[in-house]
Amino acid sequence: MKTIIYAHRGASKQAPENTLPAFELAYESGADGIETDVQLTKDGIPVLFHDENVRRTTNGTGFIQDYTFEQLQQLDAGAWFSNQFINTRIMSLEEFLIWTTDKKLLLNLELKTNVIPYKHIEQIVYDLLVKYNKLKQTVISSFNPNSLLNMHQIDLTVTTAFLTSTKKVDLISYTKRLGAKGLHTKNRFVNQNLINTAKREDIYVASYTVNRPNQMMRCYQIGCHAIFTDLPHIAIETRELFEQDMIQ
Ligand code: G3P
Ligand code: MG
Repeated sequence: MKTIIYAHRGASKQAPENTLPAFELAYESGADGIETDVQLTKDGIPVLFHDENVRRTTNGTGFIQDYTFEQLQQLDAGAWFSNQFINTRIMSLEEFLIWTTDKKLLLNLELKTNVIPYKHIEQIVYDLLVKYNKLKQTVISSFNPNSLLNMHQIDLTVTTAFLTSTKKVDLISYTKRLGAKGLHTKNRFVNQNLINTAKREDIYVASYTVNRPNQMMRCYQIGCHAIFTDLPHIAIETRELFEQDMIQ
């Protein structure tokens, strides 16, 4: 099985993360899927944004949860990255799903509920996925296990993945206990042993954030189910090299 390449926050080394230009570049590079982060505005609109605070990646200050969607639209989410992206807006999840309509892309929606447990975010996201018929190609992941459990309260058939940057628990058995299909974890935790153990338990392993060709190659060799990369075009090239080596 080919390792799936998810563009992490879009092609986020080439364009401002979690914005349309980054998603478009990811799609044009041939990425299999897109990973993006979801949070809720004051008026309950899911938007694609990584930090809880807008400071780092916009010209504004304060928290996403204190802005209405309309207010967020006034912020520039591209200028911080480069002048080429001045006037790039924050995107809503609904706009993103509409953009994916005619595209064969896998989606990984990361619910950013580990710092602020946004009320009803799971139901709001679920309803949009149903509305745009995207449930089948979507994985819902979260650092907050409650979000995964909440999603399964709504619909047990949703594919979920436990996201973790620590090894405080036995990762595979914890993932299983959450009823999740996948374990999304740091690249340095991912090795052949973890992948083999996971496979025996019918869990898949995906690795983040994989930006160096040698790291990508290692993931392909050990049979990672998926990688998350800021550089999808490099990951595609490297995967082609790996496949050629396999044929010879
Ligand atoms: O979903 C993988 C990765 O995005 C998790 O970390 O902080 O980049 O959202 P972060
Ligand atoms: Mg993320």
